[in-house]
Amino acid sequence: MQLIMCLVFVCVWTFPAVISGAGVRVVVEEDSDAVLPCSLSTKESVIAKIFDWRKDESQKEVFFYDSGIHYNNGRTGQDEQFRGRVSHYEDQLMNGNASIKIQNTKVADSGIYSCIFRHPRQNFYIELVVERLLRDRSGEIPGASKPSITILDATKDWSLLQCEVQGASPEPKVQLQDGSGNILPAEERRGRYYVTLNITVTKTDHYLCVLTQEEISHQSRAETFVFISDAGNTTDGNVGVVIGGIVVVVVVVVVVVLVKLRSRFVRRC
Ligand SMILES: *[C@@H]1O[C@H](CO)[C@@H](O)[C@H](O)[C@H]1NC(C)=O
Ligand SMILES: *[C@@H]1O[C@H](CO)[C@@H](O)[C@H](O)[C@H]1NC(C)=O
Repeated sequence: MQLIMCLVFVCVWTFPAVISGAGVRVVVEEDSDAVLPCSLSTKESVIAKIFDWRKDESQKEVFFYDSGIHYNNGRTGQDEQFRGRVSHYEDQLMNGNASIKIQNTKVADSGIYSCIFRHPRQNFYIELVVERLLRDRSGEIPGASKPSITILDATKDWSLLQCEVQGASPEPKVQLQDGSGNILPAEERRGRYYVTLNITVTKTDHYLCVLTQEEISHQSRAETFVFISDAGNTTDGNVGVVIGGIVVVVVVVVVVVLVKLRSRFVRRC
């Protein structure tokens, strides 16, 4: 019993947020700003007080305010991760509001933040969740690959396109699309870390190869333009114009002849 009490005490003491679970949860998309709320229930002014924002069990220094002196006006000791990205609300201090804003959030900013008032001691816990966006992360995360699209072969009627992906891990989804975003049925060959797609296209258009690695929120695309001279259709068009022309001429001639015949007939009567 004593041991259990002791364990509970240790947990509560080292990381109360996990135990209480009564904190606030803030969810934002990466690269956007997050406001972490923290206010004294008494609403008494904190202008001349100390409050300290820390992150996770490692107690990283996020923001420290001591009677007007803080990390943005000379105080040192802020963790590198937060340098230049954290501010407080000066005009809210008189209402006991010690909320902070973290700009340009990264996924690594996710975690449990504690807002600590000294004298009297009061702790608040805020969970920040920074959600990853699907975007191009090639060069940023190993295994986030880039597709390449090439024209392997072409005639005046068609082009053979190939999309190639190498060094992709986790396993990617690769799709070929036309300029309107329709997914095209392509021949696929897969290896452990590579994918190739082939398709024969017969229309002038932009063609896209889109690679998605959902697990790492990575998407990258390659584009090419295909021009099909479409000789057959052009000839058809010309033939159409010629035939149309002939029909018009024939109709005109027939009408003229009929009108003449009719006037001659009328005169005779
Ligand atoms: C504290 O200030 C922030 C920023 O202006 C605001 O969003 C929040 O609602 C305020 N909290 C309270 C309890 O007034
Ligand atoms: C794509 O076409 C090329 C050239 O014809 C061929 O070598 C390759 O095996 C084809 N790949 C697939 C996935 O069909």
